[in-house]
Amino acid sequence: MCGIVGYVGAKQVVPILFDGLKLLEYRGYDSAGIAVLDGEGISRCRRAGKVRDLEQDLRSLPPAATIGIGHTRWATHGKPTNENAHPQVDCHGKIAVVHNGIIENYMPLREQLMADGHVFSSETDTEVLAHLVESLLDGDLLEAVRKAVARAEGAFAVAILSSDTPDRIVVARRGSPLVIGQAEGETYVASDIPALLGRASSVQFLGDDELAELTADGFRVIDFHGNEVRRPSRSVSADPVSIQKGGYKHFMLKEIHEQARAVGETLREKIDASVQTVRLPSLDNAIPEFDHIYLVSCGTAFHASLAAEYLWEQILPVPIQAIIASEFRLRSPALSPRTLVVAVSQSGETIDTLMAVRRAKDGGACVIALVNNEQSAIDRESDAAVYMRAGIEIGVAASKTFTAQISALGVLGLYLAARRGTLSASDVEQEVGRLALLPGRITECLQQEESIIQIAERMHHAHDVLFLARGVMFPIALEGALKLKEISYIHAEGYPAGEMKHGPIALIDEGTPVVFLLSDGLAYDKVLANMEEVKARNGHVIAITDTPDAPAVLKLADDIIPVPASEGISRPILFALPLQLLAYHTAIWRGTDVDQPRNLAKTVTVE
Ligand code: F6R
Repeated sequence: MCGIVGYVGAKQVVPILFDGLKLLEYRGYDSAGIAVLDGEGISRCRRAGKVRDLEQDLRSLPPAATIGIGHTRWATHGKPTNENAHPQVDCHGKIAVVHNGIIENYMPLREQLMADGHVFSSETDTEVLAHLVESLLDGDLLEAVRKAVARAEGAFAVAILSSDTPDRIVVARRGSPLVIGQAEGETYVASDIPALLGRASSVQFLGDDELAELTADGFRVIDFHGNEVRRPSRSVSADPVSIQKGGYKHFMLKEIHEQARAVGETLREKIDASVQTVRLPSLDNAIPEFDHIYLVSCGTAFHASLAAEYLWEQILPVPIQAIIASEFRLRSPALSPRTLVVAVSQSGETIDTLMAVRRAKDGGACVIALVNNEQSAIDRESDAAVYMRAGIEIGVAASKTFTAQISALGVLGLYLAARRGTLSASDVEQEVGRLALLPGRITECLQQEESIIQIAERMHHAHDVLFLARGVMFPIALEGALKLKEISYIHAEGYPAGEMKHGPIALIDEGTPVVFLLSDGLAYDKVLANMEEVKARNGHVIAITDTPDAPAVLKLADDIIPVPASEGISRPILFALPLQLLAYHTAIWRGTDVDQPRNLAKTVTVE
């Protein structure tokens, strides 16, 4: 959701910023722009549309400039027009600002600045920052920005240039992520690590309520009160190849096919297959005695959390509840030092989940972050962390991080139950044995792709698709529906199959596709009965099942997608895979932009 890049060094800045913006496209945006600074002052170019639309116009920028900032904007205040695209400037074009997030009190600030004579040229909340810095600037850009952001409310990340101090960029963050990268004689800033891969050798995430002044020689961090902040940078471990498509048509397809590795890596450090046990040493001294558990998360991460709720309640004798993070704060959760809250987030930066973490901590709960991004805000603000090891996910629609989340949550459940003594060593052994086989099963399951392409072709004209399942498969049905609607724009709903008669059955008409997740031993006959009901109304039954040869399935299903038989944590993971492929190929038949679906952003940093 919006992307920031910045560079100061000795190289020509325009191509560096342009490449950085392309690498942040996955975050979601609808306009883009760049501002650079040279002896002539600030020059900028910006426009509505894609980063590639900007390429021609970039020739108008001074090619020798070596300092600049760039932005991809996901419109919040004001339509995605050229005028509203960032960078925004002050009255005299001497200060340029790019900004992610929302300045919630921009209206009173704008009115005050206009009363003081400032002239605005856009509808954005961002422009107030340019004018505010202009009004506060007295030779020291860092200090002017510090005073400006102290007056701003909301969640934001900004990068600011001033022609009065042409050797530096000032950045600040509250809520929205910013990562600073360094190489010999050059300093970078970006909203996320992919924009720095192959360029920076070390990185450091800026903390909340912190500012940094970047020059070619390095950077200095202070907090919003002006105190110096020191923390070590870390070397960049990800490979630039991980952010290339590697021969696949889309990142999403590549990431779907990376799941054996993503899940394998996630499990590797957490299970010891030789002695069939689980280990999460980071939690050993971090978790108190607890009497209930909340899982907080959004979107796909919520579906993984809901799957964990089903899995954990079989082995942990305490109330467990998965709650959508944005609702958590509105409700009255029972929070005490005996509450365990697990915050599940791929990015570790989702603002709703971060706010739920803060609410939980205010109530005295112990918070465990389950994230894919070390050092992210949710990781930093939690008491302990469990990491997914899915690698960078570029496709906006989550795929490999979903299955990595269920894997990590599954192991966390085993750990908690073993620690509490509610799961025997032999039960843990059995589950670990199954998990050790899971990467191979994932590879086997993804081999169904050819037949799924045919099914997707039949499905891609549909107006509505229902996804029905029971038990732990219900969250997977929700995820199947979310994937389909996100990338194909077909209306889709996930329901517990038992709920069908209580409403959704009204949608079933001649040929309406209904996807059933049917697994041996999981309310099998009841789900079959629901299939009968759909068939009786001439719906089109697609059965994703581990019993593909069962006579009842052969009789009722119009299409069958086989899944390897499994139990425990592995089962929901395996059933998720064909749903991802079905959504992907349906979107392909419909010709949508799979990696950057309309209106969506990869990391949602506004509430
Ligand atoms: C769906 C999707 C979103 C995210 C949600 C939470 O494909 O990607 O629903 O799952 O925005 O994001 P994280 O996990 O980063 O907190």
